[in-house]
Amino acid sequence: MLLPDTFNALVIGSSGSIGSAFAGLLAGEPRCCALRQLARSAHPGFDLRSPERFASIVETLVPQSPFGLIVDATGALTLPAGRPEKALRELEAGRLAEAFSVNTIGPMLLMRHLAPLLARGPSVYLKLSARVGSIGDNRKGGWYGYRASKAALNMMLQCAAIELQRNNPLTQVLAVQPGTVRSALSQPFLAGQTQVLEAPDAVAGILRALDQLTPCAGARFIDNRGQDIVW
Ligand SMILES: NC(=O)c1ccc[n+]([C@@H]2O[C@H](COP(=O)([O-])OP(=O)(O)OC[C@H]3O[C@@H](n4cnc5c(N)ncnc54)[C@H](OP(=O)(O)O)[C@@H]3O)[C@@H](O)[C@H]2O)c1
Repeated sequence: MLLPDTFNALVIGSSGSIGSAFAGLLAGEPRCCALRQLARSAHPGFDLRSPERFASIVETLVPQSPFGLIVDATGALTLPAGRPEKALRELEAGRLAEAFSVNTIGPMLLMRHLAPLLARGPSVYLKLSARVGSIGDNRKGGWYGYRASKAALNMMLQCAAIELQRNNPLTQVLAVQPGTVRSALSQPFLAGQTQVLEAPDAVAGILRALDQLTPCAGARFIDNRGQDIVW
């Protein structure tokens, strides 16, 4: 059991399919005493590419803190610069920088500001990652920027877990693969997929996993059933 008996929760990216499913299920969770949501489109708003605003935005969350659960469900696969790269000849500096900005640098700078708001004792920092960010599991290649930005995210989550657990061994950092979930992010790539989950089903599985897992040293990279994924 990774969560405390009662907790306040924060969901970042609550406008997305998976983020809104987290907010919906946590709103009906009796152990969740207070729920805050953060989305780009709702006041105070935030953009992962504008980290200079993070300190003042996080300041607005202090009244609901400490949080026993922080979920960051942000991320992007298709970027303003285009669809994910399939081949080396498609690599461009700007597109790669965009992927790292939204999937790695933004989320980690946000975590930097949010970490002091985690509850002492049992607490979870859950970041949506992706199985395609696994180096050990990469047998198909492609999606260079997305894969690499999630792999880099995973490495930084592990660094953060080690650092946070020095002060609070019961803090668990999770990098989570939600499954293939119907959403704006996945929609262009669903053709031929046989096992597509609806977001509430994927999130219900993740929340069940939080009740079944026990704290461990370092971060964990898990799927929506709580199964470990090779880094
Ligand atoms: N769906 C899947 O099959 C799947 C599979 C593996 C991993 N994931 C991961 O799961 C997470 C959630 O994905 P999803 O499927 O729920 O996608 P989604 O519905 O497209 O949601 C993405 C969320 O990220 C936010 N976001 C994107 N760019 C942002 C930016 N620059 N600043 C602030 N917010 C930004 C979006 O905000 P707006 O609403 O304002 O755009 C939205 O809240 C992502 O990390 C994704 O990599 C998803």
